[in-house]
Amino acid sequence: MTLQEIIDDSKKIVFFGGAGVSTESGIPDFRSEDGLYRMKYAVPPEVMLGCDYFFSHPDDFYRFYRDKMLPLWAKPNAAHLKLAELERAGKLLAVVTQNIDGLHQSAGSHRVYELHGSVHRNTCLKCGKKYDAAFIARSEGVPHCTCGGMIKPDVVLYGEPLDGETVEGALAAISEADTLIVAGTSLTVYPAAGFVHAFKGKHLVLINRDPTPLDCMCELVLRGKVGEVLSGIIV
Ligand code: APR
Repeated sequence: MTLQEIIDDSKKIVFFGGAGVSTESGIPDFRSEDGLYRMKYAVPPEVMLGCDYFFSHPDDFYRFYRDKMLPLWAKPNAAHLKLAELERAGKLLAVVTQNIDGLHQSAGSHRVYELHGSVHRNTCLKCGKKYDAAFIARSEGVPHCTCGGMIKPDVVLYGEPLDGETVEGALAAISEADTLIVAGTSLTVYPAAGFVHAFKGKHLVLINRDPTPLDCMCELVLRGKVGEVLSGIIV
């Protein structure tokens, strides 16, 4: 079956995405040739994005974070927009994303499970007061709350657990889906990558530029740009 035929045959689609869904919005992914983890830093980005590093070197963390993890200029691309259209048409149950850029919501998606949190939510570690991404972007050095407490982005750093409610919602949606479309992810980071195994439905589709460990289990594997592929879909 073609992707169009699969989508026509589906009533409860779930989309599981990664950084490759946002590269067509100008945001580099992590592990491709031009990905963030291939860039040379004194301290590897995977270390700088760790929970220990955040607390031991908050200045360095925020310098890297503002420079590379806060693309507030980015706009939703064709993939984000098509998924929002599929949700409006009642064909898509939910988006489950590993991305923290909020572009699915900007495109109009409502039921979005952000497994790794969001740059748009930031919390004072002392009093719990919330701050938006713009506050973090325009602050200098380590951002502090009016109460004096340090502010931390609500993103899942290496070594931190995923949010229980988000995990529950994402797994419930995937296990209810009749079609799971996995796209723009290398499926190398757990527990997120393991979520696809909760799928028990009819059609498993992969849209990814490079091979992944899931390829052999899919009914349909499309080697291409997810924005381009989805833009050709008629809802
Ligand atoms: N269309 C389709 N696939 C794409 C596109 C595109 N436009 N651009 C990139 N890709 C593919 C790449 O081939 C790659 O396999 O997307 C995948 C991106 O993989 P990663 O860079 O590993 O990103 P991701 O899988 O989201 O990483 C998971 O790792 O560092 C953590 O928390 C971070 O959420 C991230 C997690």
